[in-house]
Amino acid sequence: VTRRYDFVISRGELAPDGYLKKSGILINGQFPGPTIEANWGDMIEVTVKNNITGPFEGTALHWHGLFQKGSAWYDGVPSVSQCPIAPGASFKYKFQAGVFGTSWYHSHYSAQAAGGLFGPLIVYGPSHVDYDEDVGPVMLADWFHKDYFDIVKNVMSTNSTLWANPSDNTLINARNPYNCSLVKDKNPCGTGSYSKFHFKSGRTYKLRLINSGAAGMQYFSIDGQTLQIISIDLTDIKPYNTSIVTLGVGQRSDVLFTPKVVNGTKAIWMRTLQSGKFCQRAANPEGRAIVLLDGAKDTSIPVTTAYPAPIDDGTCKNEPLENSVPHYVEELPEPSVTFQITVNTIVNKTGNQLYTMNGSPFMANYNNPLLNLAYQKNTSYPDHPEWNVLNFGTNSSVRIVIWNNSTGPHPMHIHGHDMWILYDGNDKWDGTTVVNPANPQRRDTHNLRPKGWMVMQYNADNPGIWPFHCHIAWHLSMGMYVNLMERPGEIDQAGIPGIIAQTCDAWNKYTETNV
Ligand code: C2O
Ligand code: CU
Repeated sequence: VTRRYDFVISRGELAPDGYLKKSGILINGQFPGPTIEANWGDMIEVTVKNNITGPFEGTALHWHGLFQKGSAWYDGVPSVSQCPIAPGASFKYKFQAGVFGTSWYHSHYSAQAAGGLFGPLIVYGPSHVDYDEDVGPVMLADWFHKDYFDIVKNVMSTNSTLWANPSDNTLINARNPYNCSLVKDKNPCGTGSYSKFHFKSGRTYKLRLINSGAAGMQYFSIDGQTLQIISIDLTDIKPYNTSIVTLGVGQRSDVLFTPKVVNGTKAIWMRTLQSGKFCQRAANPEGRAIVLLDGAKDTSIPVTTAYPAPIDDGTCKNEPLENSVPHYVEELPEPSVTFQITVNTIVNKTGNQLYTMNGSPFMANYNNPLLNLAYQKNTSYPDHPEWNVLNFGTNSSVRIVIWNNSTGPHPMHIHGHDMWILYDGNDKWDGTTVVNPANPQRRDTHNLRPKGWMVMQYNADNPGIWPFHCHIAWHLSMGMYVNLMERPGEIDQAGIPGIIAQTCDAWNKYTETNV
């Protein structure tokens, strides 16, 4: 079966929190974009038309968490797998829903995702637990009233007083009233509203939580209720109970929830909190939505009390690795290579703030993507440290040790794979300790602590070039990527030049006439 979608991307005004005149990037006039749904094994075809004007921008969509086995050139990363889709041009992505669970798609062009260009992506598969109803995506996101390109300029600016860019609000499914007392100019302030969920007590619901934000960690809870985590990213896990679910940017958690009436009240707050001194900066750190039980009046406003906020120890860490044990065991092989990467912040010669991984900020060429160079057997990678290509050749299993020598947290995301998370701590890794070695945690995004360490490993069974990067939109723009080159000799599947040309011909023509 092929699931087909037509996306027209354009600029528009949007006010998810009531704050008006915020320009954003929409899909078919919607924010967030339409939900892509498929069954495990289906083909997904998305035709993307770039109608962004005033000013023109390139674009490209990435299908977060999907492996793109045999279809690396549809991974949607400008400079790596394609040229940006030029203004006025279209591109058809075609790939298999080869893994199942909750995910999302987003622009991978600059920090465009922070301008609203994202949506849920759900692949239905077998369930390892029972529940009554799938509620679908619950998107948690920080929200910025400034345009994303202005924020990118600020964080990279030579003026360090501009580096802090607090978010203005926190949204649940694109809603949460903005607190207008936070702005002097009352003009742009309209009325926002809350997302609402109508549930029956005693019935079990599945919520698909997605942190689709730009920078902030999210701590999700429903007052007085117990949540059971059943999946993290696209990995089903042995269910465990919690009152607060932690999600770094890009992470997902499926949770089961059987509502119960608390203190006789049938209206309950759902909350998501951006918390932690170093994990976020938010003018309004809490987003809320309303849960109405058993036919409670639609106008009810909850008065329930929040769980105490998680203690801020400055680590911005995920739950202990021991908590999430994969339901399906995948045996961890001995790594065939172990490589260490250091993360640093630098101020470059022109005074701009950047991030380095493995010694260099990532900077490649929109006009000639790395995957195309690899296909052409161009071996000039070592001459271009700024491309941040790590060529692991034909190694079968790659272990990477990451030391974060910066004071920011970094939700690290790998393309083309899941990764085993073998270690996560403030202390230097001892070179041997693996958490739960018989069945270590797997996921596609994991929070690297400030001044902390993580160790990950993946099986190199997917020829291509796969970004491994921080998912904080601004850090991405500041170059916090490496590109994992995998089995370059096998990248030359038929069809690449034709597919690359579909975006690059139009983009190169556009840049020739518009520089
Ligand atoms: Cu969710 Cu490189 O992306
Ligand atoms: Cu980061």
